Amino acid sequence: MAEYVVEFGKDGGRVEPDGRLDAAAFHRNHEAIWAALAPYLIGQSGDVVEVGSGTGQHVVDFAGRSPELTWWPSDLNAAHLKSIKAWSAHAHLGNVRAPLRIDLADPSWCPQMRDGSGPGPLLAVFCANVVHIAPWPVAEGLIAGAARYLRPDGRLFIYGPFKRHGRHTADSNAVFDSSLRNGNPEWGVRDIAELEQVAVGVGLTLTDTQEMPANNLILVFGRVAST
Ligand SMILES: C[S@@+](CC[C@H](N)C(=O)[O-])C[C@H]1O[C@@H](n2cnc3c(N)ncnc32)[C@H](O)[C@@H]1O
Repeated sequence: MAEYVVEFGKDGGRVEPDGRLDAAAFHRNHEAIWAALAPYLIGQSGDVVEVGSGTGQHVVDFAGRSPELTWWPSDLNAAHLKSIKAWSAHAHLGNVRAPLRIDLADPSWCPQMRDGSGPGPLLAVFCANVVHIAPWPVAEGLIAGAARYLRPDGRLFIYGPFKRHGRHTADSNAVFDSSLRNGNPEWGVRDIAELEQVAVGVGLTLTDTQEMPANNLILVFGRVAST
């Protein structure tokens, strides 16, 4: 069964002296995630925001593969923000900006995108393994913020385990869901239809669903085409 981590570094994982944290799942999932994102991102230019970046390993890995994109990692946990900064410095990449503090539950995220100190209209928002480990308003805030800041051809990518038509896609996800809800009754594996409903309300639509290893999915949302 999948295990969940609330704060990296407190889960027995490695902590480097400069604050770099390690997510065990990163080593298992980053190649598959990049394979799903790459067709949307390679050959493009622009800004990509990652929300709930955690250790910062995904953003650094993906930025290294896409020098023409500018990546803006973010989180709200202080140790994670430090780790993101440290991974970014360690990688010596010119296309990863300093991490933003973004709390997806704050309906006004993120002021830097309105005052000109942050990214411009976004090519993409990427969010991995967050919406099941946070209360429902975080999922709503994620989708509403993406709708605010994505450019017309922009995409929102949400990676993680999801239910389809109210049912888990694997027994292991059902067990994982129970362990999440035991940890916090407001958490839990989300249903794709519920996310779609929020998206439609803010002018986004589910354009693609990709199967990923370990019973995870990537959901891709884009703007509803105007007729
Ligand atoms: C399970 S970790 C996933 C980290 C990383 N995306 C990954 O896949 O390795 C969940 C992350 O969501 C962040 N998070 C939790 N609640 C959040 C919120 N309200 N707004 C933004 N990030 C949040 C946590 O700090 C943590 O970094």
